[in-house]
Amino acid sequence: MEYTLAIIKPDAIQGGKAGLILNRLEEEGFRIRAARLTRLTEPEAGELYAVHRGRPFYEALKRFMTSGPILALALEREDAVAYLRKVIGATDPAQAERGTIRALYAENKERNAIHASDSEENARREVSFFFSVQELLWTVEERG
Ligand code: CDP
Ligand code: MG
Repeated sequence: MEYTLAIIKPDAIQGGKAGLILNRLEEEGFRIRAARLTRLTEPEAGELYAVHRGRPFYEALKRFMTSGPILALALEREDAVAYLRKVIGATDPAQAERGTIRALYAENKERNAIHASDSEENARREVSFFFSVQELLWTVEERG
């Protein structure tokens, strides 16, 4: 089984959509292995989105991601990384396939409700950005 990282973004938390999004993730077969409601600092948001440093939207993205609480989720599922990208839809909700989380809940290309890791390597990096190995292991049901 594979892990990926999802973040329910400040717009969706503020808009009261966290429960609906979590429900959808569970219905899609993801197991929640770790979760944390937190608020990113500006350096944390910068580190998380380091690949976008220098892009025109980078500063605004950091402001948005630090504007309110987020819910970070370590999710487990077969083919988790690729499957979650399908379930969330395109970055711009206007381009997102009907029924995807972004098509349903995103406001616009920036305030787009949810983040998902885009590769297995980034999933490992992003899961460990938020969660310790202990936190991940302690919550695996099979351990009792
Ligand atoms: O989140 P995703 O992987 O689909 O998109 P990205 O290209 O990795 O961009 C990361 C985030 O930056 C997006 O989810 C948007 O919140 C924001 N963004 C933006 O505000 N304007 C853009 N033109 C592109 C991305
Ligand atoms: Mg991305």
